[in-house]
Amino acid sequence: MDSYEKFISDLKRVFDLDLTGYKRPQMERRINSLMRVLSIPDYENFVIKMKAEQQIFNRFLDHLTINVSEFFRNQAQWDVLKEKIIPNLIKNNTELKIWSAGCSTGQEPYSLAMLMESSFPSIKYSILASDFDIRVLDKAKAGIYSEREVAGMDKKFLERYFQKKEEQYLIKDDLKRKITFKKHNLITERFDKGYDLILCRNVVIYFTEETKAELYKNFFNSLNPGGILFTGSTEQIVTAREIGYSSAAIFFYQKPDHQ
Ligand SMILES: C[S@@+](CC[C@H](N)C(=O)[O-])C[C@H]1O[C@@H](n2cnc3c(N)ncnc32)[C@H](O)[C@@H]1O
Repeated sequence: MDSYEKFISDLKRVFDLDLTGYKRPQMERRINSLMRVLSIPDYENFVIKMKAEQQIFNRFLDHLTINVSEFFRNQAQWDVLKEKIIPNLIKNNTELKIWSAGCSTGQEPYSLAMLMESSFPSIKYSILASDFDIRVLDKAKAGIYSEREVAGMDKKFLERYFQKKEEQYLIKDDLKRKITFKKHNLITERFDKGYDLILCRNVVIYFTEETKAELYKNFFNSLNPGGILFTGSTEQIVTAREIGYSSAAIFFYQKPDHQ
């Protein structure tokens, strides 16, 4: 085991952070650049420092897992979701089971809930929102966003689903109640089944090709027949056909109905 592998195994043992399945060169570069900034000489010392100071561990997580998110990220694709994908899904379903996988600070699941409430008010739905980083999940659960974070969002949504308090925007409780937040690691934990729609967007950038292939296969198995996987705007699934997906639209992958 070389020093990097030992570091990855220490992260798992000490912090319950499992980074197996992530691309080593990219990870190594990011980790080493942070160690330089913090003047930490080697991995061993880095683990000791992170154990001693929660702040350093948080800094490491921030540096490593890019948590950036926004409401209705890549609006054009949300338009396709609203105009084509969901209308098709509800032709055969009275209730939609939705999963926002890698939900970060909550903008994605809240966007989903706002879309369902405003455009499909008679359709029942449930949203599971998961991430492996509990700090982002805490922010997601709190549902408190700054002026900058809600900038650019349709004013109608802002008025209907947020409450303004001083300089902050709070998601109203009714909307919050539509979402179940859960800590879940997409690489190491098992998946539930029976989803009609899964969103996994801007999550897999550091995953190895094998990990991605495995993940997209697991999503396939978690979808109901006819169900849809919605990916990020730079994420094409190279193994889509092999797994069995067909294309419902660009960045929307469908599990065939007849399976
Ligand atoms: C850039 S954010 C994407 C947020 C949202 N999906 C979007 O598109 O705006 C990526 C999120 O994936 C999460 N993530 C990375 N690896 C993960 C894993 N193995 N299991 C669960 N979540 C993971 C990170 O913690 C981070 O919050």
